[in-house]
Amino acid sequence: MKICIIGSGYVGLVSGACFSELGNKVTCVDINKQKIENLKSGIIPIYEPGLEELIKRNVKQDRLQFTTNLSISVRKADIVFICVGTPTNKKTYNADLNYVFQVANDIKKNLNKYKIIIMKSTVPVTTGDKIENLLNSKNNKNKFDVVSNPEFLREGEAIRDFMYPDRVVIGTSSKKANNILKNLYFPLIKKTNRYFHTSRRAAELIKYAANAFLATKITYINEIANLCEKLKVNVNDISLGIGLDDRIGSRFLRAGPGYGGSCFPKDTRALLSISKKLKTNLSIVKSTVKSNDSRYKYLLNRIREILKNKFKGKKITFLGVTFKAGTDDMREASSLKLIPYLNKKGSKISYYDPTGIKPEFNKKKVIYFNNIQSACKNSDLIIIHTEWNEFKQLNFNKINNKKRFKIFDIRNLYSPEKMKKNNIEYYSIGR
Ligand code: UDX
Ligand code: UDX
Repeated sequence: MKICIIGSGYVGLVSGACFSELGNKVTCVDINKQKIENLKSGIIPIYEPGLEELIKRNVKQDRLQFTTNLSISVRKADIVFICVGTPTNKKTYNADLNYVFQVANDIKKNLNKYKIIIMKSTVPVTTGDKIENLLNSKNNKNKFDVVSNPEFLREGEAIRDFMYPDRVVIGTSSKKANNILKNLYFPLIKKTNRYFHTSRRAAELIKYAANAFLATKITYINEIANLCEKLKVNVNDISLGIGLDDRIGSRFLRAGPGYGGSCFPKDTRALLSISKKLKTNLSIVKSTVKSNDSRYKYLLNRIREILKNKFKGKKITFLGVTFKAGTDDMREASSLKLIPYLNKKGSKISYYDPTGIKPEFNKKKVIYFNNIQSACKNSDLIIIHTEWNEFKQLNFNKINNKKRFKIFDIRNLYSPEKMKKNNIEYYSIGR
């Protein structure tokens, strides 16, 4: 199939590269000229394991190309994926659909033959109806179908999640579009038959309902972890003990700093905004958002206790600052709240992150080091912020020359017992 991907971000780029790997001819479009120029010269704008090699291979095989020219790409395509950003309006919680409608208008001018227009970006339920109405005009009857095909890609695992999906959800009432898309996804679902065809609105809601549920699951174990600290119980035991129940499942039960990233915070808020408009109270999602939004205060209280309320002059090292391991994405990372606060309280902050220096921090006040050892040198408190593999077997007594120092492991990477044996003052979550 000839595919046009509009919006070459985390989702668009991975989807485009993977579809080209499956043998389709793919053009990735983006409004950002610099991004497209970089992609054309082999510079990948995001950190996603395996993406660079996938892109290089398919560009070489002439199955994948990049351009800023939306019109030509849409005209040539049989299938057009809309993967532009749908950021949250912080006040109203609404998903900002300006980019989506802008792109839909551009597509409308280029409906030269039948096309399937696919919403991959996460959009409020009924957005597909609005796009269909926007595209409708007297001279393009039956020239298109608008389909919802939400993505379930985790950053850092996006290629694996694309190539081995738990399910492919296709929302459309058009038999023609459904048959074409069954064909397109056949290589991914032939063994598992995880192709789920439903209505467009149901597909749009499935995305929000899935992300809100996962966000709730994480928030649930984080609150259970708070209880575990009071009861001197190890929350990892609770996660394992309940996760063995198939009805609960063991994944997404890792207690930590709360969920961040570009999806859970945005999608839970967007779902609440839809429910408010429809005067339906989603009390559980509401409390999930409230609980997660205030999780950084719990972390700050823990740090205050660990430092005995003495922040001034203390050297604090962050190992990792992104919202999770496996990505360079800083969107809604807890470090964005913790570091400025600690800075303001007079602590000296250093950090190391495998994906490099972050423009989000004032580089005079928050010192980046390109290796763990230098970042941890003379540190009073080392905070393990993300669960990169390279943080999992460190010999802290070797990397920190200071005699007395503390560790706050907010990802529970280490065993409290082993830390005690090594005479290291160690704190973690829910243990
Ligand atoms: C996006 C949405 O944010 C997310 O809700 C949805 O689930 C999938 O698509 P992501 O890929 O992370 O996720 O967005 P982002 O990394 O912000 O990339 C969006 C890309 O679209 C950017 O490269 C931007 O330059 C591009 N864009 C934006 C366009 O090409 N045209 C536009 O009009 C607006
Ligand atoms: C998520 C969804 O998993 C994916 O299906 C959807 O398409 C996009 O949003 P992503 O945000 O990339 O993917 O990362 P994910 O691995 O889901 O983690 C989200 C947040 O939850 C991160 O901050 C992570 O640290 C946190 N998390 C995840 C936990 O705190 N505990 C867990 O057990 C799992």
